[in-house]
Amino acid sequence: QVSWKLADHPTLPKGKTLALIVLDGWGEYKPDEYNCIHVAQTPTMDSLKQGAPEKWRLIRAHGKAVGLPTEDDMGNSEVGHNALGAGRIFAQGAKLVDIALASGKIYEGEGFKYISECFEKGTLHLIGLLSDGGVHSRLDQLQLLLKGASERGAKRIRVHILTDGRDVLDGSSVGFVETLESDLAKLRENGVDARIASGGGRMYVTMDRYENDWDVVKRGWDAQVRGEAPHKFANAVEAVKKLRENANDQYLPPFVIVDENEKAVGPIEDGDAVVTFNFRADRMVMLAKALEHQDFDKFDRIKVPKIRYAGMLQYDGELKLPGHYLVSPPEIDRTSGEYLVHNGVRTFACSETVKFGHVTFFWNGNRSGYFNPEMEEYAEIPSDVGITFNVQPKMKALEIGEKARDAILSRKFDQVRVNIPNGDMVGHTGDIQATVVACKAADEAVKMIIDAIEQVGGIYVVTADHGNAEDMVKRNKSGQPLYDKSGKLQILTSHTCQPVPIAIGGPGLAAGVRFRNDVPDGGLANVAATVMNLHGYVAPNDYEPTLIEVVNN
Ligand code: 3PG
Ligand code: CO
Repeated sequence: QVSWKLADHPTLPKGKTLALIVLDGWGEYKPDEYNCIHVAQTPTMDSLKQGAPEKWRLIRAHGKAVGLPTEDDMGNSEVGHNALGAGRIFAQGAKLVDIALASGKIYEGEGFKYISECFEKGTLHLIGLLSDGGVHSRLDQLQLLLKGASERGAKRIRVHILTDGRDVLDGSSVGFVETLESDLAKLRENGVDARIASGGGRMYVTMDRYENDWDVVKRGWDAQVRGEAPHKFANAVEAVKKLRENANDQYLPPFVIVDENEKAVGPIEDGDAVVTFNFRADRMVMLAKALEHQDFDKFDRIKVPKIRYAGMLQYDGELKLPGHYLVSPPEIDRTSGEYLVHNGVRTFACSETVKFGHVTFFWNGNRSGYFNPEMEEYAEIPSDVGITFNVQPKMKALEIGEKARDAILSRKFDQVRVNIPNGDMVGHTGDIQATVVACKAADEAVKMIIDAIEQVGGIYVVTADHGNAEDMVKRNKSGQPLYDKSGKLQILTSHTCQPVPIAIGGPGLAAGVRFRNDVPDGGLANVAATVMNLHGYVAPNDYEPTLIEVVNN
């Protein structure tokens, strides 16, 4: 039985409106021409930095600080928002899958048993992101799963690949497909009929999120389930090389692999097993719904085979989606949002579609919906659909700022929480000029919200979930930009391992509140206790320690 009542903070008052601003993809890095945050005009964030060390500092946002397997793992929005909202560090999907594969437990679980009953007569289909980015999936995990499943009776395997270029360098897809092809060739030598069946770029095929654009999922469905796609190839390496002539890895159009008779080699049929091998939830939920829901109406699936489907993880704990899964997800319980609602803190959360679930679903421990609709309001601003964000780098930053401002001025909420996506979403396009524009827009949105906080005598906390826009090139160990064989600068579309800033302030911030200097390794998970203090409460004992202290002058 959880005791939800939080103890009163000994000195800090309740009832101040608090704005909690998460800049997506906004890290701290040395100021050079590839640091878009440095290049952009960001007067608001610059002025917050002047408050260091008492009102501004850096916190860790990658690796073990956010529950990832190693210190080489860059941060990402899922683990970042999980840590921000939950106030504790949970072993995340990437790590849980590693453990389950290493111990072999994955094959003993209910999920694997469920799908393996199809191995005798049906095909095992594996659908997911093909890279070693470690954000949504990892190639080495797919390799182990292929080996493990074939050793346990899978005789016919079809892999449906999604090329990356977003969590890894653009162009790296070719190498990943070659590696997979050689693995599948080895399986074939051992008598397993294993092939790549279809593919496409992750941002154009299958991996949409938060129901931004169902056409993305439909394009994947047509290729994976129906064996229909505008492009047909005899092998996947050739497919990716050819399609890359007109698109980058993230946006490759859908293709299917066909046999001599132009027949697709691996559509999903009655009696087959399907596993989506991504461990991260947001970009698998839509496909999971299409695969699992009887009364699905988001697009015409045309063909609905009777299959056994399991996710690598369960992607949504509240919806219990999917019902079968290979590895149990982290049990992220007792999040700060749930505590605050129980203690009377009225909450408003807002972002545009592409990041909406970050400040709601991820924030609340991968849980959909409200804890208490009477205490909470979540506002989603529709994202532009069908474009890459370098052509609209301002995105909906000002609209998010306006919504937050209005929520603050309405005085109906105690916490107004937003995610401002620009640094991340535009940073992922690798377009440096556009990312500079994006950072400026994000800074303007922050100003709008801070100005509203000034008006109501409130408090602001400004932070970020992980790095991205502060470094747009791949570098060597000493930090020099790297060039490819043809002398072209290697653009970094992915996140980084840099720390992120956190700033506190506003007229409502009690005198004497400052960052302590005895949590030098503080990370995103320390923010929840900090925010609880600023709402006038002491955080639960097992939360990571607060970043602030109150000194008497
Ligand atoms: C994506 O899904 O867009 C990237 O893989 C990671 O970006 P995010 O963690 O910032 O959402
Ligand atoms: Co990102």
